[in-house]
Amino acid sequence: TKQPSLYAFPDNPTLQQNLYRYILHAQSDAFARHHKFKVAISGGSVPKLLAAPDLLSSREIQWGKWEIFLADERAVPLTHADSNYALLRAEFLSKIPKSGPRPTVHPIDPEKLGDTQDLADAYEKALIGSFAAKDSVKLPMFDLLLLGCGPDGHTCSLFPGHGLLREEVAWVAAIEDSPKPPPRRITLTLPVITHALKIAFVATGAGKQEVMRRIFDTHPDTEGGEVLPCALVNLGAGDKVSWFCDLAAVEGVSFP
Ligand code: 6PG
Repeated sequence: TKQPSLYAFPDNPTLQQNLYRYILHAQSDAFARHHKFKVAISGGSVPKLLAAPDLLSSREIQWGKWEIFLADERAVPLTHADSNYALLRAEFLSKIPKSGPRPTVHPIDPEKLGDTQDLADAYEKALIGSFAAKDSVKLPMFDLLLLGCGPDGHTCSLFPGHGLLREEVAWVAAIEDSPKPPPRRITLTLPVITHALKIAFVATGAGKQEVMRRIFDTHPDTEGGEVLPCALVNLGAGDKVSWFCDLAAVEGVSFP
């Protein structure tokens, strides 16, 4: 079967240079399909790692064609310290050169909406608006997902053992009981994640060693309930997945 790629770099600047080259490839693959580059980005450490000089000052990046979505979002105001959009803006969007064309960004504002399910529905509508009607397309196909991996093996707001992992139809789902605070969130669903053209995970630091070992020790016949969300993405998307790690994170990981 086709395996994900696993890359380990000695330091963050080297990781960032390689992630930048990978993003350039993803951008050209996207332009070969359509005139846009549709990307979803998670919170955590990803926005800061993205904001590297190579990418921000690149003449090859066509910001005006980027359409940026949140891979997951917390049900808090966009100005709240817990907002993934606020993090993305502070760490990444605000650093994109102001002189040129700007990316289109799709935040989701909880203040205008009722409960978490309304928020998920509204975000799904935004996706439908960008990716075409839901009855004609079963799943949206992102050109690239840039995701983190929690020490418990979660990605986006898909947590280990959670019933949300069994979602098959929705593009965006609500979660009221996230084990990682804040509890109320929305997230892209597993089928949407594995349907993307390319998926990049970023995991750095010794704090990720244990979970990296468990993820890469997962095989298709591993018992359903035990499979970590990041491992489910590996299994479901295979060689569409690339892991950008540092040496500390991959220590002890067995890779065929
Ligand atoms: C969130 C984040 C989350 C994050 C992981 C990994 O909303 O909580 O989007 O899913 O990506 O927890 O975080 P690090 O990259 O900081 O390890």
